[in-house]
Amino acid sequence: MSAIVVVGGQWGDEGKGRIVDLLAQKAKLVARYSAGNNAGHTIINELGEFKLHLVPAGIFYPDKLCVIGNGVVVDPPVLLKEIADLEERDVSVRGRLFLSDRSHVIMPWHRLIDELDEKLRGEGAIGTTGRGVGPAFIDKVGRAGVRVADIVDSEALLSLLSFLVPYKNAVLERLYGSDPLDLDAIASEYSDYGARLAPFVSDTSALVQQALEAGDTVLLEGAQGSLLDLDSGTYEYVTSSVPSSLAAGAAIGMGIGPTQIGTVLGVYKAYNTRVGNGPMPTELHDDTGRLLREGGPRPEYGSTTGRPRRCGWFDAVAARYSARINGLSSAALTRLDVLDPLPVIRVCTAYRVYGETIATMPASSAAMAAAEPVYKELPGWRQDTAGVRHFEDLPVEAQSYVRFIEDVLGVPICLVSVGPEREQAIRLERII
Ligand code: GDP
Ligand code: IMO
Ligand code: MG
Repeated sequence: MSAIVVVGGQWGDEGKGRIVDLLAQKAKLVARYSAGNNAGHTIINELGEFKLHLVPAGIFYPDKLCVIGNGVVVDPPVLLKEIADLEERDVSVRGRLFLSDRSHVIMPWHRLIDELDEKLRGEGAIGTTGRGVGPAFIDKVGRAGVRVADIVDSEALLSLLSFLVPYKNAVLERLYGSDPLDLDAIASEYSDYGARLAPFVSDTSALVQQALEAGDTVLLEGAQGSLLDLDSGTYEYVTSSVPSSLAAGAAIGMGIGPTQIGTVLGVYKAYNTRVGNGPMPTELHDDTGRLLREGGPRPEYGSTTGRPRRCGWFDAVAARYSARINGLSSAALTRLDVLDPLPVIRVCTAYRVYGETIATMPASSAAMAAAEPVYKELPGWRQDTAGVRHFEDLPVEAQSYVRFIEDVLGVPICLVSVGPEREQAIRLERII
């Protein structure tokens, strides 16, 4: 059996968590392969509503194994709290959750530098989640990171920190004019985290390989969205994840080969949202924008930071681009129900940039910021879709809208969701 990767096709928060939760019913192992606790994945089930930041969405099925792969950066107190919160709500975690010994650790200076760096950028701030994720990836690439294997060995940790803390203090004091950090306090705090996380730590690459060799279904849960990717996204307003959250990053972030990935499923919202700064050609500042944010169950506020999400029409230029860079085999369309009250729905099919009409995303941030959307108008359906479970029971205008998005993407839509609950989904094609 090969692995299935689930990626976000827009700027994040497409509903990856709820789609992975749905597909996990048929999987044996569910894993996160990139990013950190900048991600916030919402899952609603019989136990209530959960917002997962690090633990994979498969955790709610007691027979599934869950893996945090080597490509993820982990903030130990955040992971320990997430585990404690799950256990408090009767979700079994021990013996089922595995953390890679190669994962990098978010250290106190990463959170500080995230905040200080944003201040330094001033007007040009990225609008990060402030979780220290970017600085942790920068140190990973700069060969100045701390890994899980280091915090579970207190002697190795002390020796590493004896170099890193004075080095980071020089940066904090001289560049940012900030107070220095205390080496001994950090060594003691992080070796304590190491001891508490030790029961979860494992060679997760071997674990996933074994599952694949045994013919088990493995689901790889992406974070963020393709347009936030460091290489292909709206740079510099992107996230710093290495490996990328694109489908191609899943192999590296998991410790498997690309030939072991068989299916790539892209998740798209029926319109667009973005949190943080950076260009978003279809953003609306009017009543329709407010309706998209506030309408329907689960209004559009960030799952990690609570910030209001910027909302606008579906951007088909960006969607087609993200379908290609991920090599999608199929797609899921979420939050269709939010469009229910609209008389007319618009889809951006091209950009006007400096007087020219283009159908691809420009690399230049200035050109992207200047891009004006060219819209196609489609009729709305003005009917409640929340209770629909079969495609042919959707209003014809809603069916046409789904088919239009399918054409734009150039891949079949296998699933449409019409509400945040697990069962509020319409299956069009078999995925697993
Ligand atoms: P993720 O980061 O991609 O997992 O997405 P988030 O969980 O951050 O944001 C998606 C939001 O949409 C959550 O509040 C979900 O509960 C909600 N949601 C998912 N699918 C649907 C849907 O079909 N309809 C509605 N109304 N809400 C949905
Ligand atoms: P999920 O997995 C939406 C955005 C931030 C900011 C930029 C960089 O829930 O879809 P960072 O803290 O990563 O350095 O911030 O990326 N961002 C997300 N936006 N959903 C996410 O994750 C995001 N993770 C990061 O808002 O614009
Ligand atoms: Mg989210």
